[in-house]
Amino acid sequence: MATMSLRIRTLDTFDDAAEALRAYVGAGYAAFGFPVDQAHLLAKATLVDPARYLLAEWDGEPVGGAGSYPLELTLPGGTQVPVAAVSDVGVAPSHRRHGVATELMRLQLRSFVDAGVPLAVLHASEAGIYSRFGFGACTRWRQVSIDARRVQFRADFPEVGGSLRVVQREDALEVCARVHDHARRVTNGGLSRPDSWWPVIMGDTDVYLGGTKDHLVMTHRGDDGHVDGYAIYKVDHDWDRGQANHTVRVWELLGETPRVELALWRALVEHDLIASVTGPIAVDHPLFDVALDCRQVGSSWEQDLLWARPLDVERLLSSRRFSVAGRLVLRVDDPLLADVGGCFALEVDHDGVAKCSRTSELPQIQMGISELGRVLLGGCSFRQLARAGQVSVLDDEAGSDADSLFRVDPLPWSWVRF
Ligand SMILES: CC(C)(COP(=O)(O)OP(=O)(O)OC[C@H]1O[C@@H](n2cnc3c(N)ncnc32)[C@H](O)[C@@H]1OP(=O)(O)O)[C@@H](O)C(=O)NCCC(=O)NCCS
Repeated sequence: MATMSLRIRTLDTFDDAAEALRAYVGAGYAAFGFPVDQAHLLAKATLVDPARYLLAEWDGEPVGGAGSYPLELTLPGGTQVPVAAVSDVGVAPSHRRHGVATELMRLQLRSFVDAGVPLAVLHASEAGIYSRFGFGACTRWRQVSIDARRVQFRADFPEVGGSLRVVQREDALEVCARVHDHARRVTNGGLSRPDSWWPVIMGDTDVYLGGTKDHLVMTHRGDDGHVDGYAIYKVDHDWDRGQANHTVRVWELLGETPRVELALWRALVEHDLIASVTGPIAVDHPLFDVALDCRQVGSSWEQDLLWARPLDVERLLSSRRFSVAGRLVLRVDDPLLADVGGCFALEVDHDGVAKCSRTSELPQIQMGISELGRVLLGGCSFRQLARAGQVSVLDDEAGSDADSLFRVDPLPWSWVRF
């Protein structure tokens, strides 16, 4: 096939918006192996800004696409920066490995740089795809798996008081949105969630963002009367041989404090008829430390979650806070977007506030742009990457100095699906 026949355009260049969306969703869903139905199209139509969605056409046929949402990400120290949250990257099985995704990513990333967006983020279906485009995994997650029949909590379990209620999804929308917004602002790695997503999340259509008619919502109300946490979950019923062995599947559980989250996890574990509780959780969540026998709070798996692609190194490093005062000269190579890379001097004062600017000094550390994505939020150390041969530490002290500067506690965490 000749590359001449590939054309990429945004959905707002079509005369008919509904037709453009159908073509886009059709190509994307084919890539992921889903049929397109009307409910999905309607849900998607409420989320998509046509100007942000690229459709790839091969000889006039839609064969792939890539979209993005304008969100905010919280950096270490609590500053929010705008990010382009890349989503729906897909190429039809018939047209794979002809460079379609490469062209989509190149155009998309260039448009973000031109618009002044400092960072792109995504979730990868497979971890081998995106480092070539400059993305690096910056947060991890665990799928917790709790044996509800055997687990016992320690006597020093940090109680929080307050009360729990199961509420109707439609009544929970506003309070969940409020708790979520608080949590994402105080969490390193937290992503914003647009208001328009909540009706989809609380709706009946099972889209990737989260809706399904089976979801229940439990809220936690503090002693002062305000709702400060929620769990969105469903119960998979198992009455094999007349015995209840149900599983609670948590979709999202958030609280304004770790204690509130622990109270919600515990309430689900102690729910009648339940044999196990599963769900996504931060890798260093205190839930792993509050059981008498910690093996009863296990993980089914742990893996990368959010991938970060720096697009404006000076802005990102000047916006995040650092753990100690110090100075570092970094060289960042970016073969795809040469104007993004360069040599940068980072100076951090005693309050952890940084200034970062381009420099002609000799670098102490040399790294690729995807490795900068990996260390940006502090979830991965420079020395870890150096041991793997992915970062070059050019002066003896620089590796430990960089790790002291970028260190965070707790680890970054990012739960919003997009
Ligand atoms: C992943 C996907 C978008 C790639 O599209 P594509 O048009 O075939 O990609 P390209 O032809 O531009 O390939 C670019 C490079 O990535 C590599 N690559 C593509 N898919 C890969 C994968 N799944 N794992 C590892 N490498 C991959 C290609 O081999 C190629 O490498 P090269 O430049 O060294 O030759 C496509 O296979 C797809 O739609 N997969 C199913 C849906 C999906 O997983 N989407 C990603 C969502 S996060």
